[in-house]
Amino acid sequence: MVKASASAQAPEEPRELFRVHPERPIIEVKGLNFYYGDFQALTGVNMTVKRNKVTALIGPSGCGKSTFLRLLNRMNELIPGTRVEGELLFEGVNLYDPGVDPVEVRRRVGMVFQKPNPFPKTIYNNVAYGPRLHGLREARQLDHMVERSLKSAALWDEVKDILHQSALGLSGGQQQRLCIARAIAMQPEVLLMDEPTSALDPSPPAASKSWSRNSNKAILL
Ligand SMILES: Nc1ncnc2c1ncn2[C@@H]1O[C@H](COP(=O)(O)OP(=O)(O)OP(=O)(O)O)[C@@H](O)[C@H]1O
Ligand SMILES: [Mg+2]
Repeated sequence: MVKASASAQAPEEPRELFRVHPERPIIEVKGLNFYYGDFQALTGVNMTVKRNKVTALIGPSGCGKSTFLRLLNRMNELIPGTRVEGELLFEGVNLYDPGVDPVEVRRRVGMVFQKPNPFPKTIYNNVAYGPRLHGLREARQLDHMVERSLKSAALWDEVKDILHQSALGLSGGQQQRLCIARAIAMQPEVLLMDEPTSALDPSPPAASKSWSRNSNKAILL
């Protein structure tokens, strides 16, 4: 008779894949190459991103800024024919390892796109959407989360009396701040923002910066 191993008898606690080591950079990129089919868009990228900091990527149009940001939350793999080489470590784990769940990555590494893309729902439901999807049901907790996120994105004062109106009725800049609030509501550890200030006054980025000072957060612009 084959004796069952100890691990088979007593299942291990679920392993936390992305463990925080405060002294380590939250993101480390090593020898990164990226291809759209035959076209190589990124060549030999090495960089680190510190935690609790805002990091800006600057470069001419077409140099690969958006491509790089999308690699950090595995959005490029939704484009057929793409290929990644090298290492993209988040909390020391390669995001492209076979055991890594892209949905989990996208919860931890949130993204705001250049063009505002609110859902055709109310302002409240745009922000509450993600937390609800992840099991937050209690009305008071949801209210609190929505208010806190809208305040962090410097939108609360403008929308607190119209929370149940359509988000599509907001101005472009307000829609962009709503998308920032929606991303913040998921409490990501890294927030990727692809030219998010194009439609904004100076104050909301400052608000996002204050959000990043909460422990263990990083923002890439
Ligand atoms: N889906 C795609 N398929 C094929 N090539 C692409 C795709 N997306 C981007 N590229 C190419 O990859 C390169 C980098 O594009 P990317 O959008 O990352 O640049 P960018 O630095 O963000 O530019 P911008 O400042 O104009 O937003 C460009 O040559 C672009 O044409
Ligand atoms: Mg771009």
